[in-house]
Amino acid sequence: PDDWAARELLPRMHERLNLLQDAFATVGVANPIDLPQIAVVGSQSSGKSSVLENIVGKDFLPRGSGIVTRRPLVLQLINRPNAKGEVGGIAASGDKAPASPATPGKPGGSFNAASSDETEEWGEFLHVPGKRFTDFNEIREEIERETEKTTGKNAGVSPNPINLRIYSPNVLTLTLVDLPGLTKVPVGDQPKDIEKLIKDMILRYITKSNAIILAVTAGNTDLANSDGLKLAREVDPEGVRTIGVLTKIDLMDQGTDVIDILAGRVIPLRLGYVPVVNRGQRDIENKKKISLALEAEKNFFENHPSYRSKAQYCGTPYLARKLNMILMHHIKNTLPEIKTKIQSGLLKYQQELQSLGDPLSDDNTNMSNIILNVITEFTNDYRNIIAGTSDDISS
Ligand code: GDP
Ligand code: NA
Ligand code: MG
Repeated sequence: PDDWAARELLPRMHERLNLLQDAFATVGVANPIDLPQIAVVGSQSSGKSSVLENIVGKDFLPRGSGIVTRRPLVLQLINRPNAKGEVGGIAASGDKAPASPATPGKPGGSFNAASSDETEEWGEFLHVPGKRFTDFNEIREEIERETEKTTGKNAGVSPNPINLRIYSPNVLTLTLVDLPGLTKVPVGDQPKDIEKLIKDMILRYITKSNAIILAVTAGNTDLANSDGLKLAREVDPEGVRTIGVLTKIDLMDQGTDVIDILAGRVIPLRLGYVPVVNRGQRDIENKKKISLALEAEKNFFENHPSYRSKAQYCGTPYLARKLNMILMHHIKNTLPEIKTKIQSGLLKYQQELQSLGDPLSDDNTNMSNIILNVITEFTNDYRNIIAGTSDDISS
């Protein structure tokens, strides 16, 4: 049922969800669906930005050694169909979206898929109103420029977030937050209380019970000392919304692996751990493409003696799928609330329609029909999901 849900139902549900969000936005009814924000926590240079970038499937975040992420980046992914009216990636059903070359081995229902039309994706910054960034390298440069504007060039940090929206047919409408890494010793312009400053900054994004925490730890460091896990535990002691992400598996000493951690024998997490291999510093310098990096990650796990028997539970595609499962779980739990909001929204809309008087213009009738259709199909999908899938989203 797990596979079936991910391949068939999740994509359809997300398509409906996106349509519904659009429909409500069009008629000015507040969005009834409060999807979780996904935030990364971990030590400096543990690979947080790299993990987020891989999940989105786009090159656009500043990454590198030392403190690179110095302000929170609130990244809103917004799904919009392409010019042909097709919804790609996450929102597309399995048969409409064949496995894409940019995301090898990625199961249906993951966050992203290669775009057939790259020009239909763009970014917009809150601080640069009206400008569409279609070149994702320019997005990275703008993040760097805007970071320096409030923090200077010398390692300063600021809790003042940068807000970026990415519009694409290949993403699920969802918010991700990239955060500075936990650090203890001040460098450059950093104040003496840098540790507390960054901790408070992170807590602001992960305390909400709605947040999903990606606790990132480099595989070549000791899990018991993981700053990310420690902080995640403070706000999520039961571990119901924390996923452990183990990076840099490729840099581990020969003969060592993370099998004990994955098996829950070190620090057990209810949602478990996912090992990943991101691009290294040399890959960044050589501008290695994400598609190649994902291919290399897949090969790494499939050919490694420790992981090859469990390769399907390793790597970025599996992490994305796990996140999808958590999202689905969340949506299921909030379904009753969503229904109430939809009903009151509809009522309000119908009253507004009536107050416009007779005869209804074609436009209004159409919009009303669209919304009713979307809601009907949406509700049917949910009924199927609830009837057909297991509650167990842990692996
Ligand atoms: P952040 O500070 O936690 O956001 O970490 P970054 O994503 O900026 O990565 C820090 C450095 O580690 C960069 O040079 C990355 O290329 C490198 N890095 C991140 N993940 C991996 C990985 O899985 N393998 C290798 N070899 N390098 C990685
Ligand atoms: Na870094
Ligand atoms: Mg970073």
